[in-house]
Amino acid sequence: MFTVIRADQLEFDPRPQMSQIFADGFSQWLGYFSKDNQAIARAFAHMFVLNQFYVAVTDERKITAMAACTDGTASSVKLNSKELRKHLGLVKGTLAGVILKKEFEATKAVKTTTDAPISTHGSIEFVGTAPECRGQGAASAIIRHMVENVPFDQFLIEEVADTNMPAMNLYQKLGFQEYKRKSIPQKKAEKIGINHIISLKYVK
Ligand SMILES: CC(C)(COP(=O)(O)OP(=O)(O)OC[C@H]1O[C@@H](n2cnc3c(N)ncnc32)[C@H](O)[C@@H]1OP(=O)(O)O)[C@@H](O)C(=O)NCCC(=O)NCCS
Repeated sequence: MFTVIRADQLEFDPRPQMSQIFADGFSQWLGYFSKDNQAIARAFAHMFVLNQFYVAVTDERKITAMAACTDGTASSVKLNSKELRKHLGLVKGTLAGVILKKEFEATKAVKTTTDAPISTHGSIEFVGTAPECRGQGAASAIIRHMVENVPFDQFLIEEVADTNMPAMNLYQKLGFQEYKRKSIPQKKAEKIGINHIISLKYVK
């Protein structure tokens, strides 16, 4: 069994385990920077802003899953270019710093189609479960916990690949509904195996 807790309230540093979940869960997007999963995990371990993350943790201090929830104005991760270069080398580390900083730290200006005030929206990011713990309800437990305990009226999840069935099923099962989709041009879609990028919303 596991407990859901905010990551900065743990009595140990969860970053190495969180980074391993990140490396395993998002390898499709990180392969350019290194094929070595362990190197990826070491390179990104520094980036997690712990008070923005919730984790599912067992009594044995095993982090089974994680997810961030921000108000859309603060970033849930902060990349340090020196750390990235240390683990990924000069060229790929520098590129990771430039490219991913833009991608990861762009505060999701949590806009809706009606441009409602941002303070009523939570942005859920970096949802991942350790491969050996998947299918046991860990990601569901974290997202339910956030929805019940974080005082937002609405929660948004941006940029989910339509072909990521574990993620799409997870969010839809929890009551999230699609509110926006972006088409990928056909040639690129065939290459990356993604047809649409979906944004989902949960209204309390
Ligand atoms: C998506 C992910 C976070 C799901 O985590 P999880 O802890 O296994 O999810 P849960 O056990 O809470 O599953 C909840 C629901 O999600 C769906 N689901 C989970 N895994 C699934 C799979 N392999 N295939 C299809 N549906 C799946 C099911 O509807 C499931 O409900 P059920 O168990 O009643 O069938 C996990 O697969 C993961 O880390 N993937 C890699 C990273 C990623 O893609 N993150 C999402 C980015 S948007």
